[in-house]
Amino acid sequence: MASAQSPGQTAGDLPRIVDLWGGLGSVSVDPVVLARNLVITAARTDPAHGAFDVLRSRLLQALAEKGWRRVGITSPTKGCGKTFTAINLAIALSRYDNCRTILMDMDLRNPSLAGYLGLKVDRTMGDFLREEIPAEAILRKVGPNDLRIGANLALGLNHRAEAYAAELFQEDRTARVLERMEKDLRPDVILHDLPPALAQDDVIAFRPHMDCVLLVAGGGLTTPREMKETVRRIGEDKPVVGVILNKADGVSIAEYAY
Ligand SMILES: Nc1ncnc2c1ncn2[C@@H]1O[C@H](COP(=O)(O)OP(=O)(O)O)[C@@H](O)[C@H]1O
Ligand SMILES: [Mg+2]
Repeated sequence: MASAQSPGQTAGDLPRIVDLWGGLGSVSVDPVVLARNLVITAARTDPAHGAFDVLRSRLLQALAEKGWRRVGITSPTKGCGKTFTAINLAIALSRYDNCRTILMDMDLRNPSLAGYLGLKVDRTMGDFLREEIPAEAILRKVGPNDLRIGANLALGLNHRAEAYAAELFQEDRTARVLERMEKDLRPDVILHDLPPALAQDDVIAFRPHMDCVLLVAGGGLTTPREMKETVRRIGEDKPVVGVILNKADGVSIAEYAY
């Protein structure tokens, strides 16, 4: 006998009828910690925050033109500023009332998003991707704050590193849970803070889950050869929507393809 469904319940792969966004839990952030960790878009005192406003507008334009929403953020090697870019861009986006953004910590071998925001979490992204816990267990909004971080941003936080990130990304189940998250929460933009592209094959394994890529080059770190190899690995069918030159002299958008 078929049983009746209560709101919010999932039946197999059917999307839930209710919009779960409003029910997501929230966390509070400390402005001092954010400032210390270079979340420059929060207080807006660092002039570089303007670069993220420009990046935000250009990205939204490109996504709207192409009908995309899933953006991977990567760099050739670690330490170039992927997480820095991801957080600052996400906060800039959160100030648009009519745009829902989800930022996912997908650098599974080196989770750092929660730490950047000074947050302690006890949920694991790997468990979400393995379908063991629902999206709402790892997603958190930022509660009322003086920094104008909007309620239109949800952060997918992770506290435990995964040794088998590439294998996990390749599972059909991973595609399924990410698709379900999109259906249930209806984000306009999903930013995936990815691992470095040249370190392992994690970014190659993640390709099916993104529409396009933002590339972060680390000033004084990244060589032209590494950038070329990164673009080659990402592949032509996942276009690079923008290149951010970070740490050179603040932050600048070096190239914008769309
Ligand atoms: N524009 C910048 N100016 C100064 N420090 C930066 C800048 N961008 C990133 N950093 C710092 O460099 C380190 C690496 O940045 P992070 O975003 O964690 O790199 P990734 O995620 O690519 O490994 C962090 O300590 C971060 O605070
Ligand atoms: Mg990082």
